[in-house]
Amino acid sequence: MCGIVAAAARREVSEILLEGLRRLEYRGYDSAGMALIDEKHNLKIHKRKGKVSELENAQRQHPYHGNTGIAHTRWATHGEPSGLNAHPHISGQRVALVHNGIIENHAALRVELSEAGYEITSATDTEVIAHLLHSSLSAGGSLLQAMQQTVVKLEGAYALAAIDIANPDTVIGARKGSPLVAGVGIGENFLASDTMALRQVTDRFIYLEEEDLVCITPDSLQVYNADGSKVQRPVERIKEGLETADLGSFDHYMIKEIFEQPAALEATFAGATNAQKVEERFGLAAPALFDRVKKVQIVACGTSFHAGLVARYWLEEIAGVSCEVEVASEFRYRKRVQYEGTLLVVISQSGETADTLAALRNANADEFLGSLVVSNVDNSSLVRECDLVFLTRAGIEIGVASTKAFTTQLVALLMLTLALSRRRGLSESRQQDIITALQYLPRCVQQTLELNDAVQHLSEAFISKRHALFLGRGIQYPIAMEGALKLKEISYIHAEAYPAGELKHGPLALVDDDMPVVAVAPNDELLEKLKSNLEEVRSRGGELFVFADKEAGFANESRVRILPMPHCHEVIRPIVYTVALQLLSYHVALQKGTDVDKPRNLAKSVTVE
Ligand code: M6R
Repeated sequence: MCGIVAAAARREVSEILLEGLRRLEYRGYDSAGMALIDEKHNLKIHKRKGKVSELENAQRQHPYHGNTGIAHTRWATHGEPSGLNAHPHISGQRVALVHNGIIENHAALRVELSEAGYEITSATDTEVIAHLLHSSLSAGGSLLQAMQQTVVKLEGAYALAAIDIANPDTVIGARKGSPLVAGVGIGENFLASDTMALRQVTDRFIYLEEEDLVCITPDSLQVYNADGSKVQRPVERIKEGLETADLGSFDHYMIKEIFEQPAALEATFAGATNAQKVEERFGLAAPALFDRVKKVQIVACGTSFHAGLVARYWLEEIAGVSCEVEVASEFRYRKRVQYEGTLLVVISQSGETADTLAALRNANADEFLGSLVVSNVDNSSLVRECDLVFLTRAGIEIGVASTKAFTTQLVALLMLTLALSRRRGLSESRQQDIITALQYLPRCVQQTLELNDAVQHLSEAFISKRHALFLGRGIQYPIAMEGALKLKEISYIHAEAYPAGELKHGPLALVDDDMPVVAVAPNDELLEKLKSNLEEVRSRGGELFVFADKEAGFANESRVRILPMPHCHEVIRPIVYTVALQLLSYHVALQKGTDVDKPRNLAKSVTVE
């Protein structure tokens, strides 16, 4: 989703801004732009539809230089992707502004500004902000006052960075509902949507809080809170090595991240050698809160929602705790009835997903015992706003299609299950059995990765297909859902998941020799029922691709192709089978020639509603 980089320095910043945009490319975008204040105090702007490389070409052909500048990657919401709609937006040849978020009252503001004589040229919800800022500056206010007067008129979510030729060494920023960090340098200061964008210039960051304004020059960085008072926010140093975005020997981030899973899973579980240590990972306040949990309400989006669906099986079967799971975009607007003693669990790789954040904020104080977030990003908004935090240790995930973040979320949720089970009388031996299974997990995932060539071979059958069905039963149903989501995200093949028992209630009508059917078939108590469901498919001409436990008794035969999965403990099977489905999607997409890491229309961090 949209990315912001801004700099105020004693040196030329165009290359810093472009490098920042390159580092934000993983978030997903469809146009890019940059504005600089040059030495004669003129605004110089390049904007291009498409990749950051197009912007670089423009800069190469017509180089602009300046010590103060803002840059942006835009993921279109209001108005098509185009040079005109790309940010920065300018007003009066004086002000330039970039924005991440959505301004909900932009239509009313357009009318107001048009009546005041401003010509609005783009279809965006952003341009009005540039004119509001210009209007306040023209009335004689300082840049800070102008930004303060502007943001109070905005409804919706924003992270903003703006420059004004009358304040040529200053960038002013503001945030509400969308992330913005300030990067601290020597003789230079920066703003960005996330720390990744600025790691080439600093390792010291200030995480701005809701409704903060920030004013940077080369030699100063001042934060103001919503009341307009000067405030000190802590400067945090990012540790070396946590945010490397190097492809190494891999062709894509997605396959690199799939192969990083044994290490990521091990790191997430590291040190949790007994139930007590498992619990410590949720923080000091966890025991007192966990003691009172009678029910769990999970809220998340996309892949993280699927992790929640898997957790429901664990929480109810192993811990005996009632659990509900809902997508955040529905939960946040629904009138709800909650039972006393309910723990709200939000799951989010990025920790910035707008719907999940809104769901957390909309939860009434008396509705939940407290909140727990499972996230991969320290200092993200959800991490800062929840009572308890479990940080997965997947390392930065660049591929838009989530892989290692999902499997590490599952480890976190199995650890939550263990922590709650202890209080509900789960035997010591069963607790230890699950811990041993988790310790064995990286090895099982490694064995699955060794099936890469076999999966690649299977994937060839999907390239010419337009649709696919994914089937699972029990805890493998959400894994089938995740497999289908992965395939549709990166290969653009329409894929749907069903619990296999539902087939004959409708989807069986779709089955013919043009509809590949993928079945997730570990050797569990539902295996025989699943086999009958698969026979229903085969006898109607469907072609089956069965990801089956070696011991499940499947054999390759006409219209049935088997991927023999390593035999592993039942509790970790959802994680292990996920890895094989990730490989399938990757290889299908690779052969179809799609942009695996940046699928069309999607963004890594969905910070708008
Ligand atoms: O950062 P989050 O986990 O909150 O993101 C939620 C979804 O946007 C995300 O999982 C999305 O579905 C991915 N593209 C899935 O691969």
